[in-house]
Amino acid sequence: MLNLNDPSLLVLHSLIGGVSGQGLRTYPVINPASEQIIAEISLLEEGMEAQALASAQAAQNPWAGLSGMERGRVLRRWGDLILTNEDDLARLLTHEQGKPLAEARAEIAYAADYFHWFSGEAERMYGRSLPVGAGRRHWVEQRALGVVAAITPWNFPAAMLARKLAAALAAGNAVIAKPAIETPFSALAIAQLGARAGIPDGLVNVLLTDQPERIGEWFCSEPKIAKISFTGSTAVGRWLLARAGDGVKPCTMELGGNAPFIVFADANIPAAVNGFIACKFRNAGQTCISANRLLVHMSIAAEFLSLLRDRLNLMCFGDGMQEGIDLGPLIHATACSRLQQKITDAKDKGAIVESFGIDRRASPIGSFFAPTLVTGVTPEMRLFNEESFGPIVAVTEFATCDEAILLANQTQYGLAAYVYSKDLTTINQCQKLLQFGMLGINEARLSHAYAPFGGIKNSGFGREGGLEGITHYQSQQFIAWSE
Ligand code: SIN
Repeated sequence: MLNLNDPSLLVLHSLIGGVSGQGLRTYPVINPASEQIIAEISLLEEGMEAQALASAQAAQNPWAGLSGMERGRVLRRWGDLILTNEDDLARLLTHEQGKPLAEARAEIAYAADYFHWFSGEAERMYGRSLPVGAGRRHWVEQRALGVVAAITPWNFPAAMLARKLAAALAAGNAVIAKPAIETPFSALAIAQLGARAGIPDGLVNVLLTDQPERIGEWFCSEPKIAKISFTGSTAVGRWLLARAGDGVKPCTMELGGNAPFIVFADANIPAAVNGFIACKFRNAGQTCISANRLLVHMSIAAEFLSLLRDRLNLMCFGDGMQEGIDLGPLIHATACSRLQQKITDAKDKGAIVESFGIDRRASPIGSFFAPTLVTGVTPEMRLFNEESFGPIVAVTEFATCDEAILLANQTQYGLAAYVYSKDLTTINQCQKLLQFGMLGINEARLSHAYAPFGGIKNSGFGREGGLEGITHYQSQQFIAWSE
């Protein structure tokens, strides 16, 4: 039962031009822990997207015409309102997505961080003056792009929207957002709070659709959409890029990962186990920077895995609204069967599979997957090559630093990597040679509003968050003026 302090934060329709976009068809949003319908949302009707675009265009110019301080003030208020309503937002998030309530609160605070961070960046959109001598003035100006499209995933529906919205708006753009249909409520509630913070009608539009391909095509082909920012799978990113290429449309792509978590022989083992648990099991492993492959030095593998087994044994899975839950459900039953296929593939190729955890469910419903340890994983197995996106620990042992780096880089992905070691030479070598956009050194947390989040290779391009984040929502105009 979803009880909110402020029931008006449960929005059930698209937001277009500051008003509700009611369609004729509805979609039942399911709580993955209880398999119950949370609420039916009203889906976008064909043609409503054009209204969203017209509203966004009308709102964008006056918004871009405000000073950075004025835009920043609205974003700051928005971040404050998110924190004030943290309780309700976290409940919505746990119901629609499944993550434990404590993790949902952390995501809401993380989402607020983006509004606060980019409220500051809005004030610091400096241009550059070039020293060309008397009689001439040459300078570079940062300009908004116009109306941008934000496509956000179901795994972090609040934070990923915040990361795109806050940066795009700080730079003076309008936004048309398309949240994942599985988890629409966080996006709608955040947009609702934006209106209360002073976001003008039409500047932020949220489209609810069960036709992602149709809207994706439209984002790519509509010339008045100036940019697409996408967080999701590499397969969908590739699909969007192929179409956006026709319109020479700028994109930011935050795609899949296959993060190695390397534990060297000299590592602080209890700290590495703690870091690994935090990184691997955040959102039940449904995180693109989740440790996907545990590479552990053969001399300490037994000790590391023994400590890990003790921790896995105590992990509780169940409805995220219950106290003391470490692991919520996966997003749907298909996610569970995909994981099972990867485990079967590993088993068939010689790996050993162990299941752990304490089932705290009242009855055996929901798309749950117990924490699973798979040892003897080799590069021939799907668990080594594909993002598992679930609570599976895939272990490969190594003998030397060179071998660890070789194994770690043996992937088409390049989002995040983690290294645990006390040895400066080892750390230095890893930092130089690991081909990933983000690296944790004795540190398992990479997600911060002030950090440029993003990858290389098949993990995409562009950065979100940090100083770099705003630049992807701007164009640079060079002006040469002779007096
Ligand atoms: C993601 O999994 O897509 C991002 C998670 C994060 O920002 O930490």
